[in-house]
Amino acid sequence: MIASLFSPIGIAGRVLPNRIVMPAMTTRLAQNDGEMTDKLIEWYRARAAGGAGLITVEMSSPSISGRHRLGEVGVYDRRFLLGLKRLAEAIHNEGSLISIQLGHAGSRAPSAVTGMTPLDPSGISSSVVEGGTHSVTPKALTTTEILQIRADFADAARMVRDAGFDFVELHGAHGYLISQFLSPYENRRQDEYGGSLENRARFGLELLHEVKTACPDLPIVFRLGVEDFFDGGIHIDEAIQVSRWVAEGGASILSVSAGHHRSLPSGEMIIPPMNYPDGIFLDLAARVKATVDIPVIGVGRLHNKELARTAIEQGRVDLIALGRQLIADPDWPNRVRDGLAVRRCLGCNYCAHNMVTGDTVSCVVNGRAGRETQLSLAPKHKGRTIAVVGAGPAGLAFASLVGAANRVIVFEQSASTGGSFRFAGKAPYFGEVTANHESFVSHIAEMEARCRLAGVEFRFNNKVDANALTGFDLVVVATGARLPFGLTRLVFHLLDLGIGRTQLAKWAFNKKVVRDWFYYKARKSTARQGDLNRKAQSETIVIGDAIRPGLAREAVASAFAAALSRQ
Ligand SMILES: Cc1cc2nc3c(=O)[nH]c(=O)nc-3n(C[C@H](O)[C@H](O)[C@H](O)COP(=O)(O)O)c2cc1C
Repeated sequence: MIASLFSPIGIAGRVLPNRIVMPAMTTRLAQNDGEMTDKLIEWYRARAAGGAGLITVEMSSPSISGRHRLGEVGVYDRRFLLGLKRLAEAIHNEGSLISIQLGHAGSRAPSAVTGMTPLDPSGISSSVVEGGTHSVTPKALTTTEILQIRADFADAARMVRDAGFDFVELHGAHGYLISQFLSPYENRRQDEYGGSLENRARFGLELLHEVKTACPDLPIVFRLGVEDFFDGGIHIDEAIQVSRWVAEGGASILSVSAGHHRSLPSGEMIIPPMNYPDGIFLDLAARVKATVDIPVIGVGRLHNKELARTAIEQGRVDLIALGRQLIADPDWPNRVRDGLAVRRCLGCNYCAHNMVTGDTVSCVVNGRAGRETQLSLAPKHKGRTIAVVGAGPAGLAFASLVGAANRVIVFEQSASTGGSFRFAGKAPYFGEVTANHESFVSHIAEMEARCRLAGVEFRFNNKVDANALTGFDLVVVATGARLPFGLTRLVFHLLDLGIGRTQLAKWAFNKKVVRDWFYYKARKSTARQGDLNRKAQSETIVIGDAIRPGLAREAVASAFAAALSRQ
């Protein structure tokens, strides 16, 4: 029988309801010391309720010396057991299985978090990002310290097993400790942990053995970075051999990832943004799958439904992991299964950039991400006739959320949906990443389809006036912001001509001061507060840039806040 995205798979005595995995993604939603919070539980519950078969809780260090973030989930002390139990129960109640990624950050564990000098294989200086970027010179691990880390991993595995977790994952990718041992650049040891591939792989394989011995009944996922993309990192040919050892060492699943924090673009490739191709690591994962006889998880821009489907159907991987897509739309699995439009991830990496600088996770297109305890899924408005003026990112978000429970008509002065998003991909950058037009086009298309599915009607080429708005119970003004002196048209025209791709535009938009001027200072909101509702005599809400020009995330967040009830 050909496997499909939605066929169950049995692994090591567990049955995953489908082939969709939520990979480890740091959220900072735990308390600073790692104590469980309702926010964290609701964050994961939403993704389980959305249909992901296996939820992987974010990277959590069994040793205090390896903690890489304030707000990282605590597994370094038995006192975290009860919180982990609550989390596991919440996920099981939604029908998903749960795993947790155990990872020691090595040289990338900031002293500000651990209170100690970072540890790594050989004392190779490194940069850490925690509320700013700092250069650190770590201390090389002694054999005694290695033994302690092994014992810590065993203790943490016992605790998560006792908490009811179905799997445990070991983080052997992205330039954290296992991956630092694998990389010849970061591992210059002369002892049995350095030199040959066998020696460099020893640390990770010993952790695998330790956890397996401590918890023989707890299946292990090994996440391996199979291509570091920098000289001195590990490359696919060596990684294939390590994969074999990992499988022989008793891992039940190999999760294939790539990229490494040491340099650029290799660091960027860990979470490949919108200008990278879809399915970017699929060939690498398929090569690993051809080598080992345990199931393989592929990751990396697999949010395109057809790509995800064919990756499984063609047997290139056994499971797919969807990271940012499940931040943008936790319901992706259920909606794709049911043939419904989804809220596509833009690949703007705001989730990651914002989080490393110190904030909790959030998303440009999903204003509920990280705020699951504040905003319920239920719309604030029910059974009303609602006019939404403007089909840009805020208007579409609002209409998509309230469409099913109300009669919603969206008035748009241009001939299509998307507003500023139609041009955002033609600018040099979107936030911190190189912009990609296709990413916005496909996001807009799905958002429009999602609105239509919810029964929303669109009136295009309709520069609405107050007369058209009489008779509505609620008018939502989402008309965005514009540059003075009619410059908006000119800028859009120049972007259409490709000015965003020129070196000059890239140089200018690389400067924060230019971006701030363009997005915040120069643009003026278009809503003349109260104008429309005074004339239309209906309740009015102004959302998005129409209230205060800013970034897309703030605009969409305001649409979510206006559309959804508070918990
Ligand atoms: C906000 C954020 C946090 C992440 N944290 C982790 C982590 O803790 N451990 C890990 O192995 N990968 C982490 N990743 C990488 C993801 O697991 C995944 O490999 C990557 O996002 C590529 O998959 P995608 O294209 O489906 O997003 C993180 C990614 C994001 C966006």
